[in-house]
This record gives sequence, structure tokens and C-alpha cells, in this order.
Amino acid sequence: MLFILNFLFSPLPTPVVISLLTVGITIFLWLINKPRPVLPLLDLQNQSVGVQGGARRDAMQHSDDFINYYYSDARTMYEIFQRGLRVSDNGPCLGSRKPNQPYKWLSYKQVIDRAEYLGSFLLYKGYEPSPDHFVGIFAQNRPEWIITELACYTYSMVAVPLYDTLGPEAIVYIVNKAEIGTVVCDTPKKANVLLDNVEKGLTLRLKMIILMDSFEDSLKERGEKLGTEIISLYDAEILGKENFIKPVPPKPEDLSIVCFTSGTTGDPKGAMLTHQNVVANSAAFLKRFENVFQPTPEDVTISYLPLAHMFERVVQTVVYTCGARVGFFQGDIRLLNDDMKTLQPTVFPVVPRLLNRVYDKVHSEAKTPLKKFLLNLATSRKFSEVKQGIVRQDSIWDTLIFKKIQAGLGGKVRLMVTGAAPISSPVLVFLRAALGCPVYEAYGQTECSAGCTISSPGDWTTGHVGVPIACNEVKLEDVVDMNYFSVNGEGEVCIRGTNVFKGYLKDPEKTAEILDKDGWLHTGDIGRWLPNGTLKIIDRKKNIFKLAQGEYIAPEKIENVYIGSGPVSQVFVHGDSLRSSLVGVIVPDPDVLPKFAAKLGVQGSHKELCLNELVKKTILEDMLKIGRENGLKSFEQVKDIYIHPEAFSIENGLLTPTLKAKRADLAKHFRSQIDKLYETIKE
Ligand SMILES: *[C@@H]1O[C@H](CO)[C@@H](O)[C@H](O)[C@H]1NC(C)=O
Ligand SMILES: *[C@@H]1O[C@H](CO)[C@@H](O)[C@H](O)[C@H]1NC(C)=O
Repeated sequence: MLFILNFLFSPLPTPVVISLLTVGITIFLWLINKPRPVLPLLDLQNQSVGVQGGARRDAMQHSDDFINYYYSDARTMYEIFQRGLRVSDNGPCLGSRKPNQPYKWLSYKQVIDRAEYLGSFLLYKGYEPSPDHFVGIFAQNRPEWIITELACYTYSMVAVPLYDTLGPEAIVYIVNKAEIGTVVCDTPKKANVLLDNVEKGLTLRLKMIILMDSFEDSLKERGEKLGTEIISLYDAEILGKENFIKPVPPKPEDLSIVCFTSGTTGDPKGAMLTHQNVVANSAAFLKRFENVFQPTPEDVTISYLPLAHMFERVVQTVVYTCGARVGFFQGDIRLLNDDMKTLQPTVFPVVPRLLNRVYDKVHSEAKTPLKKFLLNLATSRKFSEVKQGIVRQDSIWDTLIFKKIQAGLGGKVRLMVTGAAPISSPVLVFLRAALGCPVYEAYGQTECSAGCTISSPGDWTTGHVGVPIACNEVKLEDVVDMNYFSVNGEGEVCIRGTNVFKGYLKDPEKTAEILDKDGWLHTGDIGRWLPNGTLKIIDRKKNIFKLAQGEYIAPEKIENVYIGSGPVSQVFVHGDSLRSSLVGVIVPDPDVLPKFAAKLGVQGSHKELCLNELVKKTILEDMLKIGRENGLKSFEQVKDIYIHPEAFSIENGLLTPTLKAKRADLAKHFRSQIDKLYETIKE
């Protein structure tokens, strides 16, 4: 008080005092003026309930029956578009843009008409309206992708996405396995990849390629020589219109899509999903957001995550169900920000990789201690509101600190869902605070259409993946040799419900490994029920090996611990039954490493820092400390590490398209470094 009096009576000019006071009072009012919290719809301390047989389901679900659909007039993907057409009153459906241009939209009717023309063309070419007939789609995200998919659904045929990251052999494998006669692809380049395979006699059934982009006559001639017809999508639609056939809609239990996923080893596996599977999964998400967020035709999502992955497919299914719209990015992830600002999406599906980039960028831009202080203060103030259920974008912290980040996403995001890989707590906490919109974390896999659990509205705590959604139940099954027992609330995550797939295409053996006779999908993930009924993923079942002295090692569990070390961005822990200890390959975080090294008095380029012995020794010490703090046993700790300057990525073949470590490839890739490490530690 004395201070204020002194301040008031100090010889400052009166106008300054008055304006200072005004600002002070405004800020004060602003600070105390909090909107009322949105109360959670369920008891957050009791989010799931046990059902017969030891499984658990969502506590908000009123019966043990699994949801099949959300609207009774939208039980297949075909009906979902018809519903979208109706509720949007033929509103905009699919949008795309050229560089620096606004979005151009196709209406629902235009999309449906074009799908009917393309489908009619396929029938005209000898396809039959039957779930035994498969059509390949080999393209980046764009409206024609959806039109092709819908063409299949309109005539009860099956869509099979192909994608580059699976590699050239995988494409041959898929075309043959699914007996694909026609591929609809985007660029002449991709058509040539397919023709190369035909030329080598690798894909005998491929008879037609339909191209979205324009192409030279030479491509057509090349196809002719090889007995493969090349036709433009435009011409195909015209021919289809001239030879129009009435839709032959599928039944809910018919196959809709075969989604190939790469395992960590071996050939890709084609997950067979029915219309009901995909519709049930999207219905369960709608159910989860009921009373919190219901998309309307005004809503818009941005499509940039690969359409060949089910996460993106299910998000879009939710959107079409409600007559909302999908705008596509230009195809270049570096322009995503520009696309976001133009499109102003309200629904934003994300993956941790992208969120980590946002987080790193914001934090690396706060260079001065004052800026850092303000950023951390703003985050903690905002997050303390979030914890009380207040999610907003109009606090003083938004105005001062976070507006720019929000504007970077277009400024209208109302719902974010992160999936496909685990996200770290600090990143999730930061985003929930900074973005001022609900960010949900979902967990699942292709074999259950996409998601099987998601965080509950109002639960903004981290460190778990939420609760089972209304289309499935989840149980944990004993994994004896890893010491996980369901009586302790730990075990392999198993899923049963209407979203669980029908098995792998023509692969009863692999199907039997994952889908048991009672319909339980065995995910290979190890989970734990938390006291409040949420599920936490703690480990992976598959990748366990024994060290020479007979101890079991689950490297992913160890990696998850080491990732907590500041300078560490990626870790690969290696060992085998011929060795009695573990070694690691570390990819340092390029933003953190320079500061980390500077503290040790070491400077240099990223490469030089990676080669520095002192840096390595200090990182290793930090990892071991974190390992001890997290209860790693001494044989679970790495004895030495190699520091690699370049990230493991999908492009360099060290991660699967779903961002899991390809352990066998990593071991091969780092063979010489690993051998050297073992030489120096002299077991
Ligand atoms: C949790 O909720 C279920 C029903 O929703 C109820 O039967 C059970 O008693 C609750 N448990 C606790 C600890 O509140
Ligand atoms: C649920 O339990 C976990 C572990 O005890 C905790 O971290 C989390 O904050 C809890 N969530 C809520 C909403 O209380």
C-alpha cells in the first residue's frame, strides 16, 4: 500500500498517472473476469465402467450395446453423402485452391453426380457392382480422391488406397493381392511407376489407369504398348454420363475399403473394413462430442493428413455426416499455414509430429529471458483456467501472447483431435492453453477403423488416452512373460465392437494372430486402467527380447523413459540375446542441443556437437539419471550411446508410415555404430 501511495504522490505528470491507473484497472478487471466453466458431462473420477467379462466401456453409454450409426438414415458411406447433401441443402462439400487463390468448392450434388458418372464408367468397363471388385486410388489428398472413393461406394465396390511411403515393392504387392484392375491416380509420374511394374511383368491384372492430371500422348502410347488403357478422369466421367447406370448402394455389412498398413517387418497387410465399421467409428466420435460439439454445414475441416490412413477417413466421415465441408491443402506441407489462414477450418485433426513443430517453433522464438518468462507465465495461467473447464481465446494472455499462434491456424478452430502416435504431456498442456480450443487425444489403430478411446470432454489432464468410445469395449489381457496381469489392471489392450475389422485380405494366418474367435482385436499395446477409469498406454507387447543373462527387455518402454531427457529427440535402444547389455542410438533435438552444449562450454555445428565426447557423456548421464528416476533396472539402462545427427523418418525408411520405429531396419542401418559401441564397452 505504502508503495502505491508513494507512487501516486511521486512527481509523475497527472495524465500519466491516470492512464497507468486506467490500464491497471482494465487489466485487473480483465484478469478477474472469467467466463463460467463448462462443466464436464460425467464424473471425471469415474469415467469408465466394468462390464461382464472384465472389459470396460464408457460410463456415459446407457447400455452395453455398441453403436452402429448415429443417424438411422446414414448407415453406409453412400448414405452419409446423401445425408450431407440433404442437411446442407446442397451446400459446399469439397474445396481446393491454387497458389494464392481462394478456395473453390464443389457442392454435395456435384460430388455425388461425378461419383455416379465415374462409377457408371467403371461398370461400363466391366466392373460389377459387388464388394468383390476393388479399385485402387493412388493420389495425394484432393477432391478427386473422395469422388473416386464415393464412386466405389455408390456401386458397392471397394476402394483400396495406394501410397508412396509403402515403397515400390509394396505397391506391386497390393495391386496383386487385391487383384486391382484399375487404379485412379493423380500424376503422370505415378502412372509411370505403375506402368514400370506392368512392363516388368509384375502386375498382370492392372488393365486401366485413370488420371486426374493432364498427360502427354506418349504416356497413352506407352500404356497401349503394354496393354494398359490410360484415360483421363474427365473423359471417364463423360463416358460414364453417356452410359449412366443407377446407383447400386451397398449394405452396411459390405466391405467398403481395404486399408493396407505396413508392419514393422514383412509384406503390408490389407485391413478389411465394412461400411458399418467406419460409420460406427465416426458415430462413436459424434456421440462423444454430443452436447459439446455438433458439426453443422458451417463447419469446415482441412485435409492434409494422408487420406490413405483411417484417422483422416473417419474425421471426414464425421464431417460429411453433418453436411459440413472439407478443404484440401495444396499438397505441400510447407504451405499448410497459408492454406489454414485462407480456409479458416473449425475442425483440425492433428498428429503429434505437427504439434511438436508448433511447440518447438513458439518456444525457440521466445529468445529473451523476459519473453520466456511471459510465455511460461501465460501458459500456466491459461492452463489453470483450462483445468477448471474454461477454454477460451479472449483472456489477456490470448491478446498479449497467443493471438498470433491462433491466427496461424486460421483463428476459428473449435475442435482438435490428435491421434496416430503418442503425444508428450508438455506439448499437449501448452496447446490446450495456447489455442483456447478443446484438444482431444484419441488412440486406436487401422484394425478398429481408427479410434477406440478418446479423452472425455472436460478432462484436460494428460498421461492417458481417455476412455472407450461407444462402438467398442476394451479389456486388458494377461501378458505373463512381461509380468502384466489383468487383476492388477494391466495387460494387452484388446478391443471388441462394431468398429473392429473383418480381418486381413486373403491372409487368414495374420488375421488369426490378431483377431480371436470371440471377436477381440489384440492390439499388441500394453495398457493400464487408471483409478479414474481412463486408459494409459505403457508399453508394447511385440518387441521384447531376452538378454544373454536371461532378462527380458522391452525396448519401447525404455525408449519412452529416455525421451524425457531434454536434449533427446529420438531414441533407439538395441540389444539381443547374444549380448548382456543394451546400447542406444540417440537423435538430439536440434533446438535444444546448442544450448545444452554451450553450458558445457562446447560450440560448433550440429554435426560437430553430435561428435563431441563431452556432449555425449553428459547426455548419457542425463538419460541414466532419468532412467533411475523412472525405475529402470540396471540391465535396462544403456551402457553407451551413439549420437546421430539426422532424425529417423518415414522418408529415410527408419519409421513406419504410422511413425513407429522400424526396429529391424534401424538395427541394420546402425550396424557398424552398434558394433563399435559393443567393442568399447567390452561386455
Ligand atoms: C461409477 O459409475 C458407475 C455407473 O456409472 C457406478 O455404478 C459406480 O458406483 C461409480 N463408482 C464410483 C466409485 O463412483
Ligand atoms: C486420472 O488419473 C490419472 C492418474 O492417477 C491422473 O494423472 C489424472 O489427472 C486423472 N484425471 C482426472 C480428470 O482427475
